[in-house]
Amino acid sequence: MPTYPRIASLKTFDDFQARLRELDLQLAAEEVVDSGDTSPLAQSAKVGELTIGNRFCILPMEGWDGTRDGKPTELTRRRWKNFGISGAKLMWGGEAVAVRHDGRANPNQLCLTENNLSEIGALRELLIAAHAERFGDTDDLVVGLQLTHSGRFARPNEKTKPEPRAAQRNPALDPRLNITDDSGIMTDDELKSLIDDFVIASARAAKLGYQFVDVKHCHGYLGHELLSGVDRPGEFGGSFENRTRFLRQIVAGIRAEAPELELGVRLSIFDFLPYRKSESGIGEPEPAGDPRLVFGSNSRGDGVELSEPIQFLELMQSLGMKLICTTAGSPYYTPHLQRPAFFPPSDGYQPPEDPLIGVDRQIAATAELKKRFPEMFVVGSGYTYLQDWLPNVAQAVIRDGLADSIGLGRMVLSYPDLPADVLEGNQLARKKVCRTFSDCTTAPRKGIISGCYPLDPYYKNLPERKELLALKKE
Ligand SMILES: Cc1cc2nc3c(=O)[nH]c(=O)nc-3n(C[C@H](O)[C@H](O)[C@H](O)COP(=O)(O)O)c2cc1C
Ligand code: SF4
Repeated sequence: MPTYPRIASLKTFDDFQARLRELDLQLAAEEVVDSGDTSPLAQSAKVGELTIGNRFCILPMEGWDGTRDGKPTELTRRRWKNFGISGAKLMWGGEAVAVRHDGRANPNQLCLTENNLSEIGALRELLIAAHAERFGDTDDLVVGLQLTHSGRFARPNEKTKPEPRAAQRNPALDPRLNITDDSGIMTDDELKSLIDDFVIASARAAKLGYQFVDVKHCHGYLGHELLSGVDRPGEFGGSFENRTRFLRQIVAGIRAEAPELELGVRLSIFDFLPYRKSESGIGEPEPAGDPRLVFGSNSRGDGVELSEPIQFLELMQSLGMKLICTTAGSPYYTPHLQRPAFFPPSDGYQPPEDPLIGVDRQIAATAELKKRFPEMFVVGSGYTYLQDWLPNVAQAVIRDGLADSIGLGRMVLSYPDLPADVLEGNQLARKKVCRTFSDCTTAPRKGIISGCYPLDPYYKNLPERKELLALKKE
């Protein structure tokens, strides 16, 4: 079993740099992290009419903790409040919110129905109030909402029962979801009615005061899978034009119904063949995988190839979309690409590479896109594995123009106000630094609400923690 030095063991900046050299990584990092108004991370940015007050962004993260009819609970509200006190000035979507019931990834995912409007609007107000209480100014705080249909990974009614509405057949993934015939595939007519649902949901989000919506195209969910639908017949498959019709029609609908909204996409900018656990426990590509069905990969399905993602950004730009949040792969079948971690989730595999390589891969691919699309506001992801060295890399990434904003996922579950500490020049609270234990991913895979059980005192004390520990032992 390969072992990699833990980040916590890299005690000095020189140790960190030496490890990067051993791995032959060119990852940008600065030894001294600035604070105050001159810090690169403290600079504001304009996107259309919006002013974003600094260069930290909170990535969308759901907690599998809504009600069965798609409303937030106390746990959801607590998470959004924590996003508000983080100090970040951009909220990329809060969490995935389904535009209709059959698109929910789990029976507890939020759903933007007419019935749930006031509760989902209240999440935004709560976040803004928490931000105002701690930081005063909210004019430069931008809050969007992530809209989704889970497609192949939909489980709207029972946690254990996949009810896939996939974009096309996939020999490596179909067996995992019991897809044996075309009844699990969305028809063109279903897609057309879904486009209407995205537009209706966007108009609702605008009415609630959200400043932008993210038309989600990542992580193997429907929008993302459509991009690789080369074998899909009909209007939404085959050519690049057909595979992007879904986005174009949603954008046209939103422009007509809610012209005040800014529009963004969270995009898996590359992916590899689906992985599985090998006999040794380490991840390996599924032999049944077909590289043609992987968006943003080379012809073997094992490396980054950005030509189609670049075409996709050209399309976004031609549609007047200014916001892009980059991510990679899928938490279901390529978690090592998507959220590099030392400890895999229960249904995952031991990392097939030092997770630092995964961090570097996302930063490098994002930088390539930023270079080609300087006018777009580009948010990067996957920084949490850097742990104690996150601020050093974040500052270099912004100073060098490799991205416009540093998106934070798991780190803000364990350490909600890390951005504020960095910007105020406070010493990092090492006890709160996420060590990528993956419990926040393992818990929902076991049907339990998600949260940072190892480090967040609130989740540490919940009865679900004992349940999770017992299930992990099994
Ligand atoms: C518990 C959990 C929930 C997540 N939920 C979402 C989601 O709703 N939408 C989304 O686009 N990404 C989601 N993600 C992915 C994160 O936004 C992010 O891309 C990923 O964690 C990598 O960033 P990090 O290294 O900062 O954690 C989730 C991640 C975690 C750990
Ligand atoms: S459970 Fe906590 S420490 Fe573990 S990966 Fe999630 S946020 Fe990080």
